[in-house]
Amino acid sequence: MRTQSVITLEQFIIEKEKSNQEATGGFSQIIRDLMLACRIINREVTKAGLVDILGSLNSTNVQGEEVQKLDIYAEKQLIDALKKGGETCAIGSEEQEEIVILNPKGRYVVLIDPLDGSSNIDVNGSIGTIFSIYKRISESGEALVPEDYLQKGRNQVAAGYILYGSSTMLIFTTGNGVNAFTLDPSIGEFLLSHPNIRYPEKCNIYSINEGNYRKLFEGVKQYLRFIKTSNEVKKPYSARYVGSLVADFHRNLLKGGIYLYPGTTDKPSGKLRLLYEGNPMAMLAEQAGGMATNGYTDILDIEPTALHQRTPLFLGNREEVNMIHNFLQVYDQISQLVTNNLGKEKP
Ligand code: AHG
Ligand code: MN
Ligand code: MN
Repeated sequence: MRTQSVITLEQFIIEKEKSNQEATGGFSQIIRDLMLACRIINREVTKAGLVDILGSLNSTNVQGEEVQKLDIYAEKQLIDALKKGGETCAIGSEEQEEIVILNPKGRYVVLIDPLDGSSNIDVNGSIGTIFSIYKRISESGEALVPEDYLQKGRNQVAAGYILYGSSTMLIFTTGNGVNAFTLDPSIGEFLLSHPNIRYPEKCNIYSINEGNYRKLFEGVKQYLRFIKTSNEVKKPYSARYVGSLVADFHRNLLKGGIYLYPGTTDKPSGKLRLLYEGNPMAMLAEQAGGMATNGYTDILDIEPTALHQRTPLFLGNREEVNMIHNFLQVYDQISQLVTNNLGKEKP
């Protein structure tokens, strides 16, 4: 029989802790807490078609969006696990208007999208949990201050997601590359399956809700026209979009691609949330050799002003993200010139 050495998530965490002189084990505890919660969420997700957990609660979240039962269930598991673990002082969640204090002595702040892509639940599509971890700025035991959770993405100590897809996977980074672990359901362990993930050099996928085309800004429209019609593009791009950031990001990370959720004329800040969607994905992208921008600024350099603030998001292969950045600048300049000239013609 051929034996292959496997590395479990637990072994991986212990090894990393050993190699980090400053590690106190607190951070590892948070990863363990998250994984415990996600195993339980995974169990419910996989039986969602069987039990009466499907469908919406007929309530809306703080962003005015319909909340599915599993969003609430997932959030409860995450809050319970992080509270018991003791290292998390506060959690910010898509489903809670305000930051929730868990352990005043905890040294970390965790921001979560408990269930991402929740419109996919009823159709058995891939969904995920996204997390972002910061060290608090205030001293342990002191009152939490907004600066503790309104930190720019660059300060994240770790970020990642769990993808509940055809397999369940954990993908995370602590700022030293990106590693993916796949849950082996027969032994209940996450095993290292994709060490040190890097974006493939070529970007041949674009992921956008193109139904919004008419509401897009000119730079994004011209970029889309370019990749679909220009002779300079030798191999046609594939359009892939399932409406779940985790699933769309994951495909693009492994296959090479760009994810776009731009601002639109009616919603210039777009739809996605900076703190628990944009920032964690941006850190993963950068650690895998890619990048993320809001079209003008690197996502990781944006100073947040509110827990649920939204951001336009362009995320994926570095060159492709730079290309869209250039399209936006050029078409902004053109529209500025047009506006100025029209102004001059006025009597
Ligand atoms: P959530 O389920 O956490 O509210 O997030 C949904 C997000 C994101 O996952 C996805 O990419 C996007 O919304 C889809 O939006 P559209 O349906 O507007 O394309
Ligand atoms: Mn989401
Ligand atoms: Mn969500």
